[in-house]
Amino acid sequence: KTNQQWGGRFNEPTDAFVARFTASVEFDQRMYRQDIQGSVAHATMLTEAGVLTTDERDMILQGLSEIQQDIEAGRFEWSIALEDVHMNIEAALTNKIGNTGKKLHTGRSRNDQVATDIRLYLRDEIDLILLEITRLQQGLLGLAEQEADTIMPGFTHLQTAQPVTFGHHLMAWFEMLSRDYERFTDTRKRVNIMPLGAAALAGTTYPIRRDITCQLLGFDAPAENSLDAVSDRDFAIEFCAASSVLMMHMTRMSEELVLWTSAQFNFINLPDRFCTGSSIMPQKKNPDVPELVRGKSGRVYGHLFSLLTLMKSQPLAYNKDNQEDKEPLFDTIDTLKGCLRAYADMVPALESRKEYMREAALRGFSTATDLADYLVRQGMPFRDAHEVVGKSVAYGINTGKDLGEMSLAELQTFSDTIADDVFEVLTLEGSVAARNHLGGTAPNQVRAAVARGQEKLKQR
Ligand code: ARG
Repeated sequence: KTNQQWGGRFNEPTDAFVARFTASVEFDQRMYRQDIQGSVAHATMLTEAGVLTTDERDMILQGLSEIQQDIEAGRFEWSIALEDVHMNIEAALTNKIGNTGKKLHTGRSRNDQVATDIRLYLRDEIDLILLEITRLQQGLLGLAEQEADTIMPGFTHLQTAQPVTFGHHLMAWFEMLSRDYERFTDTRKRVNIMPLGAAALAGTTYPIRRDITCQLLGFDAPAENSLDAVSDRDFAIEFCAASSVLMMHMTRMSEELVLWTSAQFNFINLPDRFCTGSSIMPQKKNPDVPELVRGKSGRVYGHLFSLLTLMKSQPLAYNKDNQEDKEPLFDTIDTLKGCLRAYADMVPALESRKEYMREAALRGFSTATDLADYLVRQGMPFRDAHEVVGKSVAYGINTGKDLGEMSLAELQTFSDTIADDVFEVLTLEGSVAARNHLGGTAPNQVRAAVARGQEKLKQR
């Protein structure tokens, strides 16, 4: 017997392997809620349009609601022979309510149906992702406030550059995530456009009311062009692009946490509950969570490329290729939510080791720029000051002294304009406090940035 949904023109049943090969139900069944939501809106609209009677609509809605309960209770039997989530649910409806079930698909195609389902699904997931980004940012604000006065070396080229406050560093992470939040918010606008009503590709001959389905489903607008509506997957690519940037940010945080938890840096303690041990080396405590997040960036970048390649050169309108959009998209969603959750849980638990951060900042001549700026304030051109301080650093390397540890007499051998007040700028506290402007590392600037961050999160 041929397929019950489309077998009319076929003379033999689908080859058993081909049926399995072309089926998507194993991975698209996760959109069952959105599929039913779309069908409810479609049936409601068909009634308003005079295509279905109110009795027919009520039977359909009742049947769909029972199917949802069956699925959620684990009673629903998914069938590979019925290909995908859409035909599984439609067949179940007809089994439940009889011939009226066969009317649900009037004026609709799986092409506009699936595009609608994915958008509804992704919209819900973006909303969860946005909440999780905010939770992570909230954690960063709390920690940054706590660490506003903690001094650590800031790096360029991973070499000690200038002292910064740990709170300032954490607020840099906060800024990256603010841009991610905006990117997902912006992507959501293009996700929230309704393909339903495009039917297979050209629209439908029934007097459909797309404004009604649009409103029922909470879309911002119906898609303007039926050919584009069923074939557009830009929104999924955009989502994967925004996800890739977010993952890239998390790899940067991860890399720093891995370095900082090493014995060589020892800046941070990661509580045991976020770490694992070694089966051979008894002393080991490994920063698995940041490492795994760093590693998971690979699959997310890969999914972005899968989707770009999937869509490349596709002629209008729907092609079966598009069934391949789901697994990369779903795995991106799952991976992102996992990584965000791990980070949002972990960040508030990070413990700074202030003595080691401080010692590292002292070890690397991190206040050299401050000494040069001091000489400039005494009237020396910056380039000359650079040279003078360079010489004093060379002296420090030879004698094992940081700039702040040299005596006034020693410093004066490099420039006789240096006076007693130089030590105010050579201390770590003096150095960070002096960078006291919007965006600078001074502790009171960090506290101000945290306050602005709190305001920003409140407005979401
Ligand atoms: N399972 C299909 C997909 O995910 C649904 C649309 C199928 N449409 C078709 N004309 N074969 O893309």
